[in-house]
Amino acid sequence: MDIFEQLREKAKEEIKTVSSSKELNDLKVKYVGKSGEITALLRGMKDIPAEERSSFGKKVNDLKDEVSTIFDEKENVLKENELNEKYKREAIDITLPGKCPEVGNLHPLNLVKNQIIDAFMGMGFNIFEGPEIDTDYYCFQALNIPKDHPARDMQDTFYFTDNILLRPHTSPGQVRTMENNKPPIKILSPGRVYRADDDASHSPMFHQIEGLVIDKNVSLCDLKGLLDEFVRIMFDRETKTRFRPSYFPFTEPSVEVDVTCCKCHGKGCNLCKGTGWIEILGAGIVNKNVLEMSGIDSNVYSGLAFGLGIERIAMIKYGISDIRTLFENNVKFLKQFNRR
Ligand code: PHE
Repeated sequence: MDIFEQLREKAKEEIKTVSSSKELNDLKVKYVGKSGEITALLRGMKDIPAEERSSFGKKVNDLKDEVSTIFDEKENVLKENELNEKYKREAIDITLPGKCPEVGNLHPLNLVKNQIIDAFMGMGFNIFEGPEIDTDYYCFQALNIPKDHPARDMQDTFYFTDNILLRPHTSPGQVRTMENNKPPIKILSPGRVYRADDDASHSPMFHQIEGLVIDKNVSLCDLKGLLDEFVRIMFDRETKTRFRPSYFPFTEPSVEVDVTCCKCHGKGCNLCKGTGWIEILGAGIVNKNVLEMSGIDSNVYSGLAFGLGIERIAMIKYGISDIRTLFENNVKFLKQFNRR
């Protein structure tokens, strides 16, 4: 084997073992680079007899071309492999399910509160929020419930002292509004209230919304019209109201208001205990004593008031049977109210 063949075979063998472009490049320099083994042959030309030089030179150049071509072919193969590897590494599995960011939602009590507020705001009511810790005067006396009045038993109140207490209803909001505003008055007073009561339908802390309208000639008809419109917005257009006589010291006459059951529409079911009706709030015409105590002339003005429990409305609307589920913060329960 002459030197040409030896070099050719050696290069071919070594190229076979190469597995990266970098190695291949180093090898290429070793053979056909400026000081590579094949290039070195040309430097030996001076020792070659003059008449053989041109054929020797041609042989070297042919070998250089041949080996370079093998390098090029190998380079193409390596590049293709490397590209395929890269594709494999960077492949995206488009069949994987997407990542969905968790979005919170309003608590059902806030949802219902907002719906109630929206309904009344549309009828021209403003919002007034009173304090949760209040005095005996605002919670009872100014509402025509003197000390030792038996009606105090209706509200199992938490007292801090004889005079300071956790408000058992939002009705003190009526008094504060009347003291500070001249009629006409149209307010809604939402907030937390507290009573010593705890079972499946009572919670020691719950939420009420008080409504008060004071103007000339406000009557029970206005109360009926207002509440009829409210229940149609809150439940559906078919929902009807029914007034039953009741008693509250701060309203005269007083009523309890029922709505046709939103589940059976009046036929009778387990939600309405077979009656077709569900009680939703207490209301009435503001007692003249209450108007006078807050500085409103009861010969000129009259008023209507109502108080509803937000939990109660939420339970009716969403078919919740135990009030305590509204306060347990069970995420599975709360997520049901995500309206997305
Ligand atoms: N304050 C009463 C209650 O908590 C509800 C009510 C409000 C009744 C306004 C009549 C008028 O039971």
